[in-house]
Amino acid sequence: MDNVTISACGKYVPPHVLHNRELEDILDTSHAWIKERTGIEERRVAGPDEDNLNLSLRACRDALSRAGRRGEDIDLIIVATTTADRMCPAIACSLQKELGAKGPALDISAGCSGFVYGLIVALHLMRGGMAKRAAVVGTETMTRIVDWRDRSTCVLFGDGAGVALLDQCLSGEGMLSACLGAWGEGDRHIHAAGGGACMMASLGGGLDGRNGKLKSLLPFLDDRWSGIYPFVRMDGKEVFRFAVGKLSGIVEDLSAEVGVVPEDVKLIVPHQANNRIIEATARKLRLPVERFFMNIERYGNTSAASIPIAMDEALSMGRIETGDLVILAGFGAGLTWGGVLLRWADEARSRMEKEGEKPMEVKSAR
Ligand code: UT7
Repeated sequence: MDNVTISACGKYVPPHVLHNRELEDILDTSHAWIKERTGIEERRVAGPDEDNLNLSLRACRDALSRAGRRGEDIDLIIVATTTADRMCPAIACSLQKELGAKGPALDISAGCSGFVYGLIVALHLMRGGMAKRAAVVGTETMTRIVDWRDRSTCVLFGDGAGVALLDQCLSGEGMLSACLGAWGEGDRHIHAAGGGACMMASLGGGLDGRNGKLKSLLPFLDDRWSGIYPFVRMDGKEVFRFAVGKLSGIVEDLSAEVGVVPEDVKLIVPHQANNRIIEATARKLRLPVERFFMNIERYGNTSAASIPIAMDEALSMGRIETGDLVILAGFGAGLTWGGVLLRWADEARSRMEKEGEKPMEVKSAR
């Protein structure tokens, strides 16, 4: 194998839309504050019958149909999530069953950096000969692990899933540089101590996807439950500072590693946590903000799912073409960070040359 590239992306977001204005009814907040401080206007909320497995499955089917591939073509599945449906087994294993895929399957917990962690783990497993084609998924049901009484966190997050299919490509294309890191000293800045997302939903936690109403468990959970307090707590200011420093550093380091400057990168797809973080990063790097893909206004922060959802939309909008340099960059709980620089490969050519196959009809960069 010469190298590894993203051959297609896909996404699935739950249909239930929760607009900022609806939050004004249950919290001391306003659409104006949320929009101005974060860029978010609305987010998706998983319904009672939705969990990370079925969000991921729909996202994978979307990606497979774009790539002209079948589930059985996949021989490695990595699922990144902060909101595992259950403690065990990994979502990736159930996803493998549903897709009819094969090979190793594992979940990764690295907060909002999880998708990038997944990409890099897959890259090395593939380079090491363990797999030929991988699905790397980011999926979240964040609305089930936020405290809907805590306006400083709950307004930020949303649900959804995105996936990147990885395939072999020629050298000089695909993933050219990568970085990963963690600063464990920052573990306290974002954490959720107990519970799994589905457990909390079945106990009655979360927001009812059907009517947007708060469910009954929450009034009984207060700080006396600190040891098992299951909801996200976050020191937003600390994370904000950390994020701006890391995002700009990732872009500079990845570019330098392949001998280019940030100005040469066509599109940066960062984790969507706050548009002010992205704008501050653009200023720091002296790049136009248009160089950064943003869709936070429609989905909020979907944690590990935000980068693949954004990638899917960037591709649909034609923002990435063969030969373009693209950077994906994440940061989040841990505190963790990671980035990948790709030269967007001509998937049809790569596949044909690598496998002697004829290119299929759906053969754009997607
Ligand atoms: O994906 C994981 C990584 N996470 C992140 O990257 C998040 C990074 N942090 C942030 O995006 C921002 O820090 C937040 C959006 C979380 C908060 O924005 P901020 O500008 O740092 O606000 P703040 O926490 O300093 O709060 C400013 C004021 C406070 O009121 P006082 O003390 O000045 O009277 C808050 O109580 O805004 C108040 N506030 C709100 N007001 C209305 C906090 N949340 C809300 C709210 N609605 N939802």
